[in-house]
Amino acid sequence: MAVGAENMGNVKRQLVQLFEVSLQATVPSETDVAPLVDACIAKSGVRFGDYQCNNAMGLWSKIKGKQTEFRGPTAVGQAIMKNLPPSDMVESCSVAGPGFVNVVLSRNWIAKSLQKMLIDGIDTWAPCLPVKRAVVDFSSPNIAKEMHVGHLRSTIIGDTLARMLEFSHVEVLRRNHVGDWGTQFGMLIEFLFEKFPNPEDVNEAAIGDLQTFYKASKARFDSDPEFKQRAQQAVVRLQGGEDTYHRAWKQICEISRTEFHRVYERLGIQLEEKGESFYSPYIPGVLEELNKKGIIEDDKGARVIFVQDVNIPLIVVKSDGGYNYASTDLAALRYRINEEKAEWIIYLTDVGQQQHFDMLFKAAKRAGWLPADDGSYPKATHVGFGLVLGEDGKRFRTRSTEVVRLVDLLDEAKNRSKTALLERDTAKEWPEEEVEKTSQAIGYGAVKYADLKNNKQTNYTFNFDQMLNDKGNTAVYLLYAHARICSIIRKSGKDIEEVKRNAKIALDHEDERALGLHLIQFSEVIEEACTNLLPNVLCEYLYNLSEIFTKKFYSNCQVVGSPEESSRLLLCEATATVMRKCFHLLGIVPVYKI
Ligand code: ARG
Repeated sequence: MAVGAENMGNVKRQLVQLFEVSLQATVPSETDVAPLVDACIAKSGVRFGDYQCNNAMGLWSKIKGKQTEFRGPTAVGQAIMKNLPPSDMVESCSVAGPGFVNVVLSRNWIAKSLQKMLIDGIDTWAPCLPVKRAVVDFSSPNIAKEMHVGHLRSTIIGDTLARMLEFSHVEVLRRNHVGDWGTQFGMLIEFLFEKFPNPEDVNEAAIGDLQTFYKASKARFDSDPEFKQRAQQAVVRLQGGEDTYHRAWKQICEISRTEFHRVYERLGIQLEEKGESFYSPYIPGVLEELNKKGIIEDDKGARVIFVQDVNIPLIVVKSDGGYNYASTDLAALRYRINEEKAEWIIYLTDVGQQQHFDMLFKAAKRAGWLPADDGSYPKATHVGFGLVLGEDGKRFRTRSTEVVRLVDLLDEAKNRSKTALLERDTAKEWPEEEVEKTSQAIGYGAVKYADLKNNKQTNYTFNFDQMLNDKGNTAVYLLYAHARICSIIRKSGKDIEEVKRNAKIALDHEDERALGLHLIQFSEVIEEACTNLLPNVLCEYLYNLSEIFTKKFYSNCQVVGSPEESSRLLLCEATATVMRKCFHLLGIVPVYKI
């Protein structure tokens, strides 16, 4: 049977295609039965196959009352097995229990798939998603306020989701929805005027830390009614576009941006800023549209939208006539759907904002911008994540100050990994530049991985010793494992490109086969991680890959100097290639040498 080009490299989808044919032939009266195919999970160490089709039981319950030749689900399972079209990917099949159809893949086919990937490149294993363009709204700190660890989580998880979607041929608009608009700017601008009567004197060095500046201006705002009044007028003059006010606003934003960029630069994050201010001209028109649709109503002097199953309304115009976070998000959502033609709009913030997004999406459904059914496109998804905790179990803070400067945090991770690296004999002889590059890769990689490997919803505890441990499920362990594979290949003295062209992979040993099977599951794992927006699925896959390589394959199959050397070198190369792609998708820079 021919495999659609879009499913090449995706084992599960190829099996789904086979089972589609078989299900049709088995029960022609039931059309549109989606094959339920999954990789088998070992139960108490026993696995009946590599993949399993679980349709027999469901089909049986559909047909049992009707005229049917079958006696029970097992018979349906047997027929599904018998009707499976011949394919070189399948070695054997069996039916277990009440009709599970187990498939054992052919060793030869697995080997060929690996070989093909090595020659054509791992991008041929990219999954195909039903979306062409997506917006990922992530990081999104607020000007002049702290960029806290919550923003760090948003930045790290958002970047990985963007990378996974990009790999899967989705065009991603990486949006930094910075909080650069709002009433706090009146206060900041007035304070700036007071401190620097001459605008030429304003620069980062003179202002110093913007958070301290923010606090000082807030104290002034709270204690002096006259200042407060000026600040409130300043907002109006800024929003009215008055020149001096606009210029001061830009200066403040620029200083914040420089600070944010220090974090992005260290982490290698690409983002395009379209802050809240960008959408402000669109708000009146959008509210007008919603008004015409009869969705907006009056509520205690404010203009609001009521949505299903939530007892508080979404406020879109405050009682003083001003717009807010929600009005901006409505305008932004409209813009992303209409102007940017995004089919999937993904937002990353902590779970504290869940209700805001729930209400926003429901309002958009009432407006007809989004379809009522969540399975259709365009689609909006909020990815909420838990808090970052310190070792005391409370919200993460550094020792004395109340907030953690993210740049310091990243620098500390790098410095600690540098110290650890220099304790190793080999690294002592490296040029300074290499030590620096490697400790950055390990330090930043460790911070990212510690965050990504968790299920997003759960709170996670920030702990340098844990994340920088070279044993266990950490980036350090994984990066070292990758470097070790590279060194095996180097030690063989062979040119791996030449081996790729001339040698063949054989998977005769059980552990070679286990490694090969895990490798060819890469594509479906990425597909799952993308579809459900779960980076931890990819982390788990990578960790298991490393474990299978080290504990099974490399412990039991001698590589260099064995009769199977060429084939096994190719398995090493395939593992390193897949690991590197995983690192890339997780935003981690690989290390080749330790
Ligand atoms: N600036 C917000 C915050 O720090 C996050 C913005 C998220 N994106 C959005 N479109 N609302 O909490």
